[in-house]
Order: sequence, then C-alpha cells, then structure tokens
Amino acid sequence: MKYLENVLHGESWSATGGSWTNNLEKEFAKKFGVKYAVAFNSGTSTLHAALEAAGVGPGDEVISPALTVIMDTTATLHANAIPVYADIDPETFTIDPEDIKRKISPKTKAIITVSLYGLSPDIDPILDFAKKNSLIVIEDNAQCVLGTYKGRLVGTLGHMASYSFETTKHISCGEGGMIITDNEKYAEIMRKIGGHGFRNLRAGEGRVRLNQDIFQNPHYKRHDVLGWNYRLSEFNAAVALAQLERVEELVHLRIKSAEIFMDAMSGCNYLVPQKVPDGYTNSYYTLGVIYNGEEEIGVSWEDFRRAYIQEGGDGIYGAWSVPYLEPMVSERQFVKRCPWVYAKIGYEKGLCPIAEKIQPKLMQFKTNYRGIGLAKKKASALRSTINRFSL
Ligand SMILES: Cc1ncc(COP(=O)(O)O)c(C=O)c1O
Repeated sequence: MKYLENVLHGESWSATGGSWTNNLEKEFAKKFGVKYAVAFNSGTSTLHAALEAAGVGPGDEVISPALTVIMDTTATLHANAIPVYADIDPETFTIDPEDIKRKISPKTKAIITVSLYGLSPDIDPILDFAKKNSLIVIEDNAQCVLGTYKGRLVGTLGHMASYSFETTKHISCGEGGMIITDNEKYAEIMRKIGGHGFRNLRAGEGRVRLNQDIFQNPHYKRHDVLGWNYRLSEFNAAVALAQLERVEELVHLRIKSAEIFMDAMSGCNYLVPQKVPDGYTNSYYTLGVIYNGEEEIGVSWEDFRRAYIQEGGDGIYGAWSVPYLEPMVSERQFVKRCPWVYAKIGYEKGLCPIAEKIQPKLMQFKTNYRGIGLAKKKASALRSTINRFSL
C-alpha cells in the first residue's frame, strides 16, 4: 500500500518516466544474479519479444512442449513462426530432450522449454544440442520461481528466461512479466520491441525521456526499431517489487502446501504426483498429479473432484488441452495471418502421444494458499475423499 501511494503521488505512472519499473528490474536481476531484466506487461509479450531477439521470423520453426499453456504457441505465431511440438516425459511431464532431437529441421531457430508446474525440464541435454545446432533456448518460467536444476538456479540456464506476474503466479501484480538474460544485445532488442522501438532505449534503461532537450527537439528521430507497447505500468511494478521482496516466503508457502497435499495422498495408488528428479527443486506453482482412479477404483475424474468439494476441498484444476488440439490451432485459424508461411501447416491428433494420454488424467492441486493452516484443512478434505473411496 505504501509503494502504491508513492506511485500515485509520483511524477510518472509510466515506465517511460518513472523509477518503479527500473527498480523492479534491478532487484529482479540481482535476485537471479544476471546482468539484465526487462519488465513487460505479461508473460506472453515477454515470449514474443524473446523470439524476436532470437532472430525468429516468418517461416522459422520454434519447438515447444506438447503440455503447456497456449501462450507458447501464440507467441510463436505472433513472430510469424511455425510451432513444432515435442512430447513430454511421462513422469516429470516436462519436455523430452530426445523428442526435441527428433523434431528438429533445418528451419528450427529456437526452443522454448517450459518449467511445468514449477519444475525445470532436463535442460542440460537440450542446451548441448542447442549449442551444436546454433539454436536459442528460451526458458518459459512463468510457473517457476527460484526452482533449481542440478544445483543451478532455474532462469540462468538458457539464453533468456521469461516470467509472468499474472494473478495466479508466485510473484503477482495482476498482469505483468519479466525477461532476464546476460546478453546485452538481446536485452536491448527486447526492450525496444516492448517499448515502441524508441531509439534511446538501452538494455538496462527503460526510461525514454532522460534528456528532455534531445527528446523534445522537433528534428529528433525517435524510433529505429519496429516495436509495440508491452510496458509494465508503475503501479504494477510497485506491487511486483513488494512481492519480490518477500519471494522466498511466497515460494516456501507453495512448496510447503504441496508437501502437505503429497503427504495426504501418500499410500494412495491412484494419485501419482509429478516426479521431481534428484538435484531439482520444484517451486510448485501447482501440484500436478496423474489421476488413475478411473482404472483403479472405478471413479471418474469429475466424480472424484465433486467428492473432494463435498468434503470441503477446493482447487482441483484440469490441465489445459495439448495446444495443437485447441480449436484455434487444430482448425488452422492462424493460417490467415500469414498464408504464405502457414498454407501447408496443420496438426493432427497423435503427434505427441504421451502428452495426449496424460493431459486428461492430470489434476492440478492449488498451492497458492494464504497460509499453511488453510492448506492443511484442504489436504485433510483430500484425505477424507481418499478414505471415502477406499471403504
Ligand atoms: C507456462 C506459462 N507460460 C506463459 C504464460 C503466460 O503468461 P501471461 O498470462 O502473463 O501472459 C503462463 C501463464 O498464464 C504460463 O503458465
């Protein structure tokens, strides 16, 4: 509230003149130990800007996992590139490095890896493969904050890493995003892509009116790059900064909640949580679980969820459909935005069989409770639900 009041009484409510977005970026970069952080208005505009910085353009292919939100696909389409889907590992649910190798073509330019539910994919083989083939790796960490992979901080592994501050995320300000990188060139391009292509934007500086004498001269040419307005407002930056200042606590609360739920389902053979390999820390944006109750106890996904709610539970969510089976993709609505690129592009069921098999069975358990007490209460409702069906 104090920060918001400061913005309200401040000179500028926009990142073009204010200091809150700038401070947020500096603190975010410091937290991750990287050189640059660039704030955006969503964790989708970040991805679009990152693809542009990676040099992805019309007709290039971008590989992303078959189990993720639609935004990895839409950002790719926004760059007029072609989405290519790699299947997932059946236990961690994250992108399978071996399938990436099968999906590569001479047109592949970039790979978007997704830290699904808070867990990094097995990224070392992906980075190796990318290096050999001159591909850019963009980590989509909208769901993973302060996760680790073999002792390294997730977000510092690929060429760029994207975050979302949408309302359900670890750090939230309603809507917003951030992209981090050590590469000055990428940071500057992304800044310009997201800031109307203003000429004086720099990798580490998002304010455009620093020198009024130059900026207000009628002969000054302002735009040297094609860009859009993907800026974060100062109000959002202030809220995100306040959240960043207590991010360890926010992440810990989610991890603790997930542990409480896993404890409640221990010994239950039909609820199988996402596997977390040794050396990884899952930041548990949500707890992903395969529900095998249909086969094991003859109770449908929907009936189990209904029973859980009757027992006082809340927050079992279904996983999004695999992106290429969403009507927007399967009905090829994207073709009209760039027919010469997409005329022959289409996607069929069966492309990524593991993701297609697992997706309808997934239950995503809520972890963003405001306190451990509430998580315990809901986990106890889950235990009662399990007991109800074991009678
Ligand atoms: C994995 C992933 N990528 C991208 C996004 C897009 O973020 P936003 O909603 O901020 O655009 C989200 C969140 O919705 C997400 O979960």
